[in-house]
Amino acid sequence: QPQPSPPHPHPLPDRRFAAVPPRLTQIRLLDEIDETLAFAQQLQDAGCALLAVHGRYRGSPMRRRDGPAHLDQVALIKQRLSVPVVTNGNVRSGAELVDSLLLTGADGAMTAEGALDDPAIFAKAIAHAHAERSRLAAERRRAKALKAQRRDGRHLTEEEAAVVRGRKAAKATLAQIKAISSALPPPPSAAPPPPFALAEQYIGLVEEHPPPGGAAALLSHAVFHLRRLCRTPLAEFGLLADLEACKSLAACADVIRRCRAFAEGSEAFQGRRRPPSYWRRQQRRKKT
Ligand SMILES: Cc1cc2nc3c(=O)[nH]c(=O)nc-3n(C[C@H](O)[C@H](O)[C@H](O)COP(=O)(O)O)c2cc1C
Repeated sequence: QPQPSPPHPHPLPDRRFAAVPPRLTQIRLLDEIDETLAFAQQLQDAGCALLAVHGRYRGSPMRRRDGPAHLDQVALIKQRLSVPVVTNGNVRSGAELVDSLLLTGADGAMTAEGALDDPAIFAKAIAHAHAERSRLAAERRRAKALKAQRRDGRHLTEEEAAVVRGRKAAKATLAQIKAISSALPPPPSAAPPPPFALAEQYIGLVEEHPPPGGAAALLSHAVFHLRRLCRTPLAEFGLLADLEACKSLAACADVIRRCRAFAEGSEAFQGRRRPPSYWRRQQRRKKT
């Protein structure tokens, strides 16, 4: 029997919300951090058992994705609440997923766009967390050894001195990464599947479990996901338009097959390879 909720001391503006407390909730930031903290606290008091925070401000037609997410504010929410907090935003790779956990101290990380582009992102995050743990442990051992050598009178290079100076920060990060990696499965034994393998797996799954909505819905989902999974090589070999013109899942599968053959060199590509705009954006981002 569901238990009636006790009256809430600080009811949310919408009474329906307070009467049926949501158990898992996702919010964006309000305009002021104090408002967001108060709202998060209200949600927890109302029975929210897990709060996911997308670190961007409340949406408006002009402000859906206004730059990077404010993970510093997610960190403050995490400090305030006792229920688990999941950080969301700025996660496009396995390394960024681990970074977002380190930056916020959150109990979990969520990614939407990142997982659409790379469904293997979580496997990559697990591998990265374990690799970082080993790297930081080695760095700490090196810092200790260098410190001992300096005590014995050896002159350290600038780089070595920096390692010694950074040892306290490295120790703190190591403790964090140990906590994160201990809660994760062991590192995957195999390398994560490349995009073409994921695309082929996706096509197999769609054949097995067609989405509701008939052939047109199936095709629009398939084109959407395959474009995201293989955007870089599809653009490189000028196959984006071919994919978008497909009239069946089999035709989509053939475009992916051709793209893989061009990329792997088993079929000669006649056209001019173009650096895709996604690639250009990545290059620009790296420079800034
Ligand atoms: C395909 C898709 C569907 C989404 N649907 C919802 C939704 O129904 N409700 C919601 O609050 N957010 C939704 N979002 C937003 C995500 O939950 C997430 O907060 C946002 O995409 C930012 O995270 P990201 O940078 O990892 O994509 C959706 C995002 C995507 C990509």
